[in-house]
Amino acid sequence: VVSSSLETITVRTPSLSYQVHIGSDLLESIGSRVDALVQGGLSSGKQRAFVVSSPEILAFWGQKLVHSFPSATVTLAVPSGEQGKRMSTVEKLLEELAELGADRDSVLVAFGGGVVGDMTGFLAACYMRGIRYVQVPTTLLAQVDSSVGGKTGVNLAAGKNLAGAFHHPLAVYADVSTLKTLPPAELRAGLQEAVKAGIIRDPELFALLERERDRVLSCDQAALIDVVARSVRVKADVVNADERESGVRMILNLGHTLGHAIEAATEYKQLLHGEAIAWGMLAAVAIAKRRNMVTVAEHDRIEQIIKSFGPLKRFHADPAQLVSLTAKDKKNRSGNRSFILPRGIGDAVVVKDVTVDELTFTAQRMMAMVAREGA
Ligand SMILES: NC(=O)c1ccc[n+]([C@@H]2O[C@H](COP(=O)([O-])OP(=O)(O)OC[C@H]3O[C@@H](n4cnc5c(N)ncnc54)[C@H](O)[C@@H]3O)[C@@H](O)[C@H]2O)c1
Ligand SMILES: [Zn+2]
Repeated sequence: VVSSSLETITVRTPSLSYQVHIGSDLLESIGSRVDALVQGGLSSGKQRAFVVSSPEILAFWGQKLVHSFPSATVTLAVPSGEQGKRMSTVEKLLEELAELGADRDSVLVAFGGGVVGDMTGFLAACYMRGIRYVQVPTTLLAQVDSSVGGKTGVNLAAGKNLAGAFHHPLAVYADVSTLKTLPPAELRAGLQEAVKAGIIRDPELFALLERERDRVLSCDQAALIDVVARSVRVKADVVNADERESGVRMILNLGHTLGHAIEAATEYKQLLHGEAIAWGMLAAVAIAKRRNMVTVAEHDRIEQIIKSFGPLKRFHADPAQLVSLTAKDKKNRSGNRSFILPRGIGDAVVVKDVTVDELTFTAQRMMAMVAREGA
């Protein structure tokens, strides 16, 4: 009964609007939904759907998705993993699309986690200067975060996501059923982004995560639909308010300043993204407590929920190195360290006066916590 519930959230940008649908057992109907969205239908003339995905996702869920289309689709497989999120993969895919006769009316289907989503979005932005695509995210991180907002791109040797474009999808279809095959560590890491959404904007989401922790971790479909829908609503609200990151959108980076530094210091090898930002959020809420921006009780609730979606993995990094890496964060304008801090539960602000001393102290305390409590 619950599994038939479908949540729909509209993302509004200055130029266009699109919908994010969240439900379970949704794969089976995605093809006909896309067909209905595309004027004239996919089977008419040369309009065709090209599914971009990776072999393991296709093995688990490919049949369901492909069979949902009323007409034949073409599948392009890319290797999974962050190493493949490169210009060279996109170039290969561009050549394949051209060879297969894709044209301006073709629709790409990004079927996978954030890596596939970012790359396919960028592919759609580039091919013939921009064709349509839909997102079918299959990791919790992609469902709550990367499939919404229109940021697409690839990594360069110099850093992550340094090349890309803003290109919004026609629609997003998040089927929480696909999370059943996701490795548990990936689910837990994705939940940290949901925790983040609760802290910065939605106290009810925060309370939901506290209350439904066990159901969420056991992949209860109704609980997951609630969590994903509320998280997407937060992201959509923030993105609606600020399309190009000039201000409000920055609060989505709670935990990410130090989180990105941790990822860079550990060469993206030891921690999942969500695990790194979990440590970063713990550090941010510690600063907020010192500045009396959160009460001790709020601090403790935040710390507890982050840890409850652990175990938080141990890593090695020098606090001074972490602080110097925060200066390289591409969100920093000028020399100042901008930092996102919670202000209670359900609110966050961009603070521009975080000093190097304050950061160093926090990084030292965080590394002490990593040594003491990291798993
Ligand atoms: N565009 C944005 O706004 C935005 C925001 C956040 C993150 N990102 C990007 O997202 C990427 C990370 O995304 P991710 O965490 O989804 O990682 P990912 O895409 O690498 O997926 C993680 C792993 O899970 C596997 N997988 C995916 N779905 C599965 C399923 N249903 N069952 C079993 N296995 C499955 C993948 O093959 C992969 O091995 C990064 O490149 C990051 O830069 C983008
Ligand atoms: Zn993130």
